[in-house]
Parts: sequence; structure tokens; C-alpha cells
Amino acid sequence: MTADLVVVGSGFFGLTIAERAATELGLNVTVIDRRDHIGGNAYSETEAQTGIEVHRYGAHLFHTSNEKVWDYVNRFTTFTNYVHRVYGVHKGEVFPLPINLGTINQFFRANYTPAEARALIADQAGELAGTDPQNLNDKGIQLIGRPLYEAFIKHYTGKQWQTDPKDLPAGIISRLPVRYTYDNRYFNDTYEGLPTQGYTAWIERMADHPNITVTLSTDFFDESQPISKGNTVGNVPVIYTGAVDKYFDYAEGDLSWRTIDFEKEVLNTGDFQGTSVVNYNDAEVPYTRIIEPRHFHPERNYQTDKTIIMREFSRFAEKGDEPYYPVNTEADRAKLLAYRDLAKAEDNVLFGGRLGTYKYLDMHMAIGSALSMYENKIKPHFEGGEKLE
Ligand code: FDA
Repeated sequence: MTADLVVVGSGFFGLTIAERAATELGLNVTVIDRRDHIGGNAYSETEAQTGIEVHRYGAHLFHTSNEKVWDYVNRFTTFTNYVHRVYGVHKGEVFPLPINLGTINQFFRANYTPAEARALIADQAGELAGTDPQNLNDKGIQLIGRPLYEAFIKHYTGKQWQTDPKDLPAGIISRLPVRYTYDNRYFNDTYEGLPTQGYTAWIERMADHPNITVTLSTDFFDESQPISKGNTVGNVPVIYTGAVDKYFDYAEGDLSWRTIDFEKEVLNTGDFQGTSVVNYNDAEVPYTRIIEPRHFHPERNYQTDKTIIMREFSRFAEKGDEPYYPVNTEADRAKLLAYRDLAKAEDNVLFGGRLGTYKYLDMHMAIGSALSMYENKIKPHFEGGEKLE
């Protein structure tokens, strides 16, 4: 079957395009991925010793307020009523996060009303009032005051960036949310939950169409295989969701990313921490947080004598590492503009997804932007002959 459309990358962006083009336009779509599984970073698998679903590339919580995206994803999966909450350890004590009235009252050993807490934080933030902070440390103090900033933000951020916040640009944070209620729901979105049968079942249903062919373990830049850059670009329209700098052979330089190392451990206990995510906010603990995936699905009958935990260590990515979060320095932004010009000039190739646009995208954003690209560019091209650019 010859392809009408080639999609490089089987993450949520690529699969949304493939599914729409196959289902609505009846196109034959070939999807390739260099990994040996579909789903991109949202891929999950059953851990053999415990039977617990583990998100291989880090914890993935689905949430959205976009009705279009919510309607679309519900075609492929139902969602549990999981509500995400995060706790943080500081000086051996556990606090609810994000910082809320519960955190403040526990931290200051007080029973402030919302108005009193607001006045206290405003007073503490006043230490740097009227200044124009040039680094993240000063910005943090100016936003929420020194005590809370130093307890919950300073060292966690330092570990995430492997850099003292005094040496990080103030622009990394524009606001630090403080809630003056006891609400510690992590997300504010209308819809939230986890796919009832897991991410991989959801993703497989998106790809399950007679017109969609998925070829795994296939790199677009491997010219020895038929669906390579050299063999397809110019012959078949391509939706490319791999790294934009790689596509142009790093002509404008490498874009920088942060990555995470996951240290997995199976423990002979039914419950290690009583919740899915605990952050470690102090400098002495080298990891940023511990994920315990069994708590993502309290409705499942997982075995009760074993659990699995994942400690996360954050660092700058080197060539060959998984790129997770764009660093987005000024130099990166200049390179990205140059890559965008090159991408625009590339006829019949559209760049999308987090790697193709060098943007951190939540799943609902990747799906939403793929639906827009489909409606605004792909459909008009195949139905009305408009140029694909
Ligand atoms: P994605 O990276 O998933 O897919 C791209 C695919 O292209 C990959 O499968 C890759 O192998 C393939 N590819 C690349 N180059 C190729 C080449 N040369 N040839 C062939 N294939 C190639 N979101 C959210 O909503 N809630 C959450 O809790 C989280 N949590 C989270 C944690 C961590 C640690 C990260 C890094 C990310 C999240 N996310 C998230 C974001 C989520 O992972 C993201 O929205 C999706 O992965 C985006 O899907 P894409 O299709 O854009 O990229």
C-alpha cells in the first residue's frame, strides 16, 4: 500500500494526525517511529514483578479544559476519577503542595485566616519590593517571600536545573502560585483522570485503523530504509514530530534540553509512601521526587506485597539522552527562529509536537495542536489542493 501521508513519530501529536487523516479523509498513512513501541513519551507498560502500570518516560497525568480535546480523547478511552495531589518533604516533614493555606499554617505553626496569610506573605515578599530581580533567587523572594521560597522552591529548582537559582535567569518563573484556601488539587482543569485501561491501550486504539501502517524501530534519517528523509521528502507529504535541529542536521546548532534519569526499585511492601508523588524540597536529597505508580490506579487490584518506586534525577541532556524539557536560553531562542525559517521553506513537510517545535507541551496541548494542524492545513491540502506549508 503506498502512503498518501507519512508521519514521523508515533506520539500523541503524530497519532492524532494519522487517525484523523485515515478516518476522515480515508488516506493511507504510514507512521514510523525509531523506538520499538508506539505512543512516544506517554507510553506505559506493566512492570513484570509487581504487575503495576509504569509510565516509562515519567509520570503522565491527563488533564484539560479544552472541550474539543476532551471529546476527541474519549473516543479512544474512558478516564478514571483520579485527582492529582502532590506532597513535599522539607526538613523531615511532609507538606501539601502547591503552597496553600495548609502549607502556610503548617510551616509557620499557625492558624492564619486567608486574609492574615495573604498579609503575611505580602509583608515577607516586601523584602525586595520595588526592585527588578535579575536572577531566579531574587524573583522567588519577591514573589512569595524568603521563608517559603527557601523551603519549597530554591533547592528543588536548583536540583531541577543543576544550577544555583542565583545563577538562573529571573525569566524562568513569572509567577509562583500560592493558594489562600486548603485546596491542594494539583491541576485546575475541568477534566482530569487516567486512562482506565492504561496509556498504551488508549494509544493502540488511536492507531487501530486499516489505513494506518505503523513501522517501529525505524529512524527517518536512516537512508537504508524506504521511509527515510531522502526517500520521502518531495514525494509524499510528511508530518515530522522528531527534533527540528536534527532534521536540518544541526545546521544552526544544537537546541538544549534537560533530561531525567529514573532509578527504579521494587520493594517488598504494599505501599511505600501512601501517595503517587512526593517531592524532596531540600538540597541534601539528590533526587527531585519519588513516584509510586500504584497510587495512580487505586481502583485496580494490584498485589499488596510489592510496590515499585521511581526516583527522579534531573540534569542537562547530552547527545543520545532523551530530550525532555527545553532549556530555552536566549541562544536557544535565536537558533529556534533560524530553524523555523528553514522549516517554513521546506515544501510538503510540516513540523509538529514537542520535539518538532521545541516546546514543552502537555498531552492535551499536543493533541489540540495536532487537531488544529489537521483542520487548518492537512484537510485543506487534501480536499482543496492547497499548498502544504
Ligand atoms: P513524543 O515525544 O511523545 O513523540 C515523538 C515521537 O517521535 C517519539 O516516539 C520518538 O521516538 C519519535 N521520533 C523522534 N525522532 C524520530 C526519528 N528520527 N525517526 C522516527 N521517529 C522519531 N503531559 C501531560 O499532559 N501530563 C503529564 O503529567 C506529563 N508528564 C510528563 C513527564 C515528563 C518527564 C515529560 C518529558 C513529559 C510529560 N508530559 C506530560 C508531556 C507529554 O509527554 C507530551 O505532551 C507528549 O509526549 C507530546 O507528544 P509528541 O507526539 O509531541 O511527542
